[in-house]
Amino acid sequence: MADSPNRPIRTIAIDGPAGAGKSTIGLGLAKQLGFLYFDTGVMYRAVTLAALQRGIAPDDEDAVSQLAESVLIEVLPPSVDDGRQYTVRLDGQDVTWAIRRPDVDAAVSVVSAFPHVRRAMVAQQRRVARDGNVVMVGRDIGTVVMPDADLKIYLDASVEARAWRRYHELERRGAPSSYADVLTSMRQRDELDLSRTTSPLRPAQDAFIIDCTHMNADETLAHVIALVAEQNAARAGAPAQPAAVVGASGDDR
Ligand code: DC
Repeated sequence: MADSPNRPIRTIAIDGPAGAGKSTIGLGLAKQLGFLYFDTGVMYRAVTLAALQRGIAPDDEDAVSQLAESVLIEVLPPSVDDGRQYTVRLDGQDVTWAIRRPDVDAAVSVVSAFPHVRRAMVAQQRRVARDGNVVMVGRDIGTVVMPDADLKIYLDASVEARAWRRYHELERRGAPSSYADVLTSMRQRDELDLSRTTSPLRPAQDAFIIDCTHMNADETLAHVIALVAEQNAARAGAPAQPAAVVGASGDDR
């Protein structure tokens, strides 16, 4: 863990499956702490979009790997007030919304399983992590990208709950799909993310596992903020306040 445990937390890793709410919680936490929020999934999505735009088959490992080495992906503060959390540029082109297209959703797990693609992305992510004061969100942040993160969180929820959340999100964005389709695609992505050889999705040994199946976003964020405060107090040697109950069930959503 940390080199100097008395100083406050500076690096936070949030991992977990698709649709668990990592982006919402990560962004809310980063705002609360005044930290940089960095969603690493957008990088794998940008490489996938680049392949689709160039007519490269997403399963062409050599071509996609070469592409990952050569494209310029930038994640910048929001440049347009249209509900975005950040602006993503691919070789200078604004692709913030294009990387959320269903064809990108369908192909990104294949692309993100290629070791060369991961190596190229992880190198860039570690450069961002080096400066600290960051909440980094993804699948392998606590295990690979920032194994020394001061705090590691693994955010989980049932596949049905995650599919409902994604379904409502698509509806809000005016790109509705059926719940059954979203559930099927969520199950496929889980399978690919969990079973790949390179950096499969799994909690780091020292991660706090939070099951938010029965918590809404506000409750989950409050829990995570309490956890950070508790951990900071422990690092400073102060008596810790008890954290809220993890995975509280039986609520009234
Ligand atoms: O979080 P997301 O749905 O935007 O992620 C898109 C894909 O990228 C997902 O299939 C998993 C992959 N990913 C990954 O392999 N490693 C990360 N650190 C982040 C995302």
